[in-house]
Amino acid sequence: MTAAAKMNRVPFYETAKGSLYKGDCINVMRDMKPESVNCIFADPPFNLGKDYRTKFIDKNSNYIEWCGEWIREGVRLLKDGGAFFLYCMPSIAVKLVHELNQCLEFRHWIAITMKGTYPRGNKLYPAHYALLYYSKGKPHVFNRLRTPVVTCRHCGGEIKDYGGHRKMLNPAGLNLTDFWDDTSPNRHRKYKVRPGVNELKITIPERAVLMSTNPNDVVLDPFGGGARHTKSANRTVEGGSGLKNLTAP
Ligand SMILES: C[S@@+](CC[C@H](N)C(=O)[O-])C[C@H]1O[C@@H](n2cnc3c(N)ncnc32)[C@H](O)[C@@H]1O
Repeated sequence: MTAAAKMNRVPFYETAKGSLYKGDCINVMRDMKPESVNCIFADPPFNLGKDYRTKFIDKNSNYIEWCGEWIREGVRLLKDGGAFFLYCMPSIAVKLVHELNQCLEFRHWIAITMKGTYPRGNKLYPAHYALLYYSKGKPHVFNRLRTPVVTCRHCGGEIKDYGGHRKMLNPAGLNLTDFWDDTSPNRHRKYKVRPGVNELKITIPERAVLMSTNPNDVVLDPFGGGARHTKSANRTVEGGSGLKNLTAP
């Protein structure tokens, strides 16, 4: 086996609950069995020229075509009823839905608050990213998640009055909506796995996995980066999910 082929097939790091591969995600995915994955969570690079401190260069003149390649590989790997999540900027999302709509069912465009960006040129202030949620046919699993009633961080009091129906709320919390404003990125240095890199708040993949999988289901993250999602899947999926986490060479 050549060194490159070995990188695609032999995990770089492994636990009882999952494996991390160090390689180009398309090559690693090509070596995986069709219909072997229950959920895909993809947080791809955005083609912004960012330095990820790997061999990977975040500037691709065929970016949308390249996304089409790994999306098609992902669809091939998904089992019937599996979930496909794609986290990206709205300007990219609107281009990628074309590819996704060809072979998957649209479920949600989840708007995720993104503070700390700034307006460019003659545009509005961008304040959200998209988490596209698709399924391969009818979803195999949909777990209804709940979030705590929102309180004031200064006084601890509840912020909304729920139109006078507060007593009727489910004691387990509010139904999760398609607008997430409690998931701002890890900006603080002490919470980062890799210094200087904006990692996704762990709640985002965690909710996606909890919503769409059962214990022991297999989750694939083609762009593992700092491998935070390995932690998220190990922590959130009771009994452990078989997480396949791919990271750049
Ligand atoms: C937007 S970041 C995702 C970061 C990750 N969600 C985290 O929280 O650490 C994209 C990641 O994909 C990696 N990457 C870029 N091209 C890749 C490829 N072809 N195969 C695998 N990973 C790649 C980059 O190195 C970067 O870490």
